[in-house]
Amino acid sequence: MLKKFLLPAAVAVMALGTVAQARAVEVSISCGAVGAELNICKSGAEAWAAKTGNTVKVVSTPNSTTERLALYQQLLAAHAGDIDVFQIDVIWPGILGQYFIDLKKYSKGAEKAHFKAIVENNTVGGRLVAMPWFTDAGVLYYRKDLLEKYGLSVPATWRELTADAQKIQDGERAAGNKKFWGFVFQGKAYEGLTCDALEWVDSYGGGDIVNAKGDITINNPKAVEALTMAASWPGKIAPEGVLNYAEEEARGVFQSGNAAFMRNWPYAWALGNSADSPVKGKIAVAALPKGGVNGKNTGTLGGWQLAVSKYSKHQAAAADLVMYLTSRAEQKRRAIERSYNPTIVSLYEDPEVLAAVPFFGSLRATFANAVARPSRVTGAKYNRVSSAFWNAVHDVLTGRATAKASLARLDGNLKRIKRGKW
Ligand code: GLC
Repeated sequence: MLKKFLLPAAVAVMALGTVAQARAVEVSISCGAVGAELNICKSGAEAWAAKTGNTVKVVSTPNSTTERLALYQQLLAAHAGDIDVFQIDVIWPGILGQYFIDLKKYSKGAEKAHFKAIVENNTVGGRLVAMPWFTDAGVLYYRKDLLEKYGLSVPATWRELTADAQKIQDGERAAGNKKFWGFVFQGKAYEGLTCDALEWVDSYGGGDIVNAKGDITINNPKAVEALTMAASWPGKIAPEGVLNYAEEEARGVFQSGNAAFMRNWPYAWALGNSADSPVKGKIAVAALPKGGVNGKNTGTLGGWQLAVSKYSKHQAAAADLVMYLTSRAEQKRRAIERSYNPTIVSLYEDPEVLAAVPFFGSLRATFANAVARPSRVTGAKYNRVSSAFWNAVHDVLTGRATAKASLARLDGNLKRIKRGKW
């Protein structure tokens, strides 16, 4: 069933674990594959298999969360039992929750150690449909060495970032690196652009697309200002290609030493500082800039959860794997080795975690106050809301529409999607 849906290039199925016991079962888990995600999922799942005598099969999924959702929807709508454990995005409990079992029976209260807001997010109709695994918030990566070289400090506003990016880009190109860019981010028409653009809008005080009451708020002057500013980047301080960049494309440019600033998630920290990284030791992380002096620092809330399919034939073993992977010890290992933000609150005070990823401490407020996408209030309609938003933003970035015209059109589209109520 699974093979029917997955492109050969997008699938890597690995049988792990060798202990064959009489009652041992095989549990399959779908993991993300962005950066080093698949490897660390695999080592965690393998450790569980060795401990329990079960076997695990790790299935890799497309990098784009938008493509991953489409794949999951196909599999689950067809009641496929191929995957027991699904790694799901923080924005999906309302869309996919109906397909997952209530984990409360297995968690025995373990969720109490995790961020309350995420546990609430993962609770649909009183059922705990997924355990929090790691959280995310958008942050600003910068080159410490280059800020110093050009006598600059970390930009406080987007306007400053634009000017600093231009200055460093001009200087580095004049010095011979023709491939150098000021700023890279996620500008492709997909869920990642919704995250970046929500940060721009929220940093200007332009709200969060649809507010907690369900009102559509995006068509406002501050949002227009934010998107107009972002539209000035492609082809100037960011490559034209940024209009087709997701997380990994942006990281590729920054990590190879060809950009001064990058917007990305925390996972890029461990990779940027890995032994073979050209920018190892030269990078730092700060909160994303404010939208002007009256604006605020913000970052979009992201993150991933683990859920057990109600079509799984091995629900108890699958839930046991979920509890193992989301445990304190495993979250600590993932934080230290690969800079995945724990969802267990006390790990933000763990000296070993803070030594490995200093910004987990210094940016605690960014993680605590991250702006949520309107997935809870729009429920099953969220993906349509988000795709209307990212397409409207993409039109502005490509210059096909002005921010004002595009947001006015988006307002109409969102009203049509809402049709009275979410
Ligand atoms: C990251 C976030 C996730 C978000 C995605 C967008 O994986 O954790 O929440 O939807 O990026 O590309």
